[in-house]
Amino acid sequence: MRKTLLPYGRQSIDEDDVQAVVDVLRSDWLTTGPKVGEFEEAFAARVGAKYAVSFSSGTAALHGAAFAAGLKPGDEAITTPMTFAATANCVLYQGATPVFADVSADTLNLDPEKVGERITPRTRAIIPVDYAGHPADQDPILALAERHGLIVVEDACHALGAEYHGRRAGSIAHMSVFSFHPVKHLATGEGGMVTTDRADLAESLRRFRNHGISSDARQRQAEGQWYYEMVLLGFNYRLTDVACALGLSQLKKLGTNRARRREIAARYSAAFRDLPGVQVPSVRPNVNPAWHLYPIRVKSERLNADRAHVFRALRAENIGVNVHYIPVHLHPYYRDRFGYRGGEFPVAEAAYEQLISLPMFHGMTEEDVQDVITAVGKVLNHYCA
Ligand SMILES: Cc1ncc(COP(=O)(O)O)c(C=O)c1O
Repeated sequence: MRKTLLPYGRQSIDEDDVQAVVDVLRSDWLTTGPKVGEFEEAFAARVGAKYAVSFSSGTAALHGAAFAAGLKPGDEAITTPMTFAATANCVLYQGATPVFADVSADTLNLDPEKVGERITPRTRAIIPVDYAGHPADQDPILALAERHGLIVVEDACHALGAEYHGRRAGSIAHMSVFSFHPVKHLATGEGGMVTTDRADLAESLRRFRNHGISSDARQRQAEGQWYYEMVLLGFNYRLTDVACALGLSQLKKLGTNRARRREIAARYSAAFRDLPGVQVPSVRPNVNPAWHLYPIRVKSERLNADRAHVFRALRAENIGVNVHYIPVHLHPYYRDRFGYRGGEFPVAEAAYEQLISLPMFHGMTEEDVQDVITAVGKVLNHYCA
């Protein structure tokens, strides 16, 4: 058994990252300075989008995208229950209503057919999530959006580096949102980004993150101007120069990080495929997942135990497992506000009863990977019916 707890996710910070941050601390700019633009440009190029607009978190970036999509009271946005609450909350921030559609049983991503059934004259946006880093099925979703004049905001917080039918996450939807929380592929502490090919959306995002002001302080200082205009009600959602320097440095390692996650996923899938009572994540053809998470599904009908037993046994082995996600509509806030009782989205709800996320981060050593494989084998064989 492992001596110390292996977390399910963790950042990797090397000496180059430390130096990049120290250099900014010694410079003139702590918040919006030259590193913000540099990071945004490098990020846009990396995902194949024309514009990237940084935000102080993935949640703030989602809020910005909901604003830029034009969501307002009376509007609806269709999203998945199998996600972190922030995906749906951004719709509420704008006074609009999140409408959930159930997921496909294999990927646990939005089922485009179910999305189609939920479209009404009030629908303004669709917000698919690339659950665990497996890209959502965007072609049929974009086709629906085209037909009904909707905006697609991809919550790609799990999917930096993922590919869908030859296209990179961040270059497919009208807007794509990323998070730089420490468990993600690129860490800045807190941080987020929205990418888009549309100049009008990029401009709207920039204003929204800066109090609704039409030009930033640095620009004004460079131009020797004192005048500015607040043209809409925005927020202070700016990402600092310190964070952007770290982001730029982390971005250089994205390729190796992604490759390492893929390697770990392949090791897990090979090791667990024939174990009793477990289902490994499926990967659809023409898709390259980013493997933010590695969620297994515990088939309790084939074991003398349910998910909670397996979860506790793995924690007792010092394997820092987690569960992603409690379906959003089942949280008390959503139940109380919208009257959800459970049973509305059977595929997501059934999956939730089975899910366990195993440790998955690029800094895992071979020993860490082997520890997970050994512990999962031990626990599942123990509970084998
Ligand atoms: C799918 C998804 N959307 C949004 C977020 C919010 O990102 P952040 O934590 O950077 O605010 C997360 C983060 O955990 C997430 O997993």
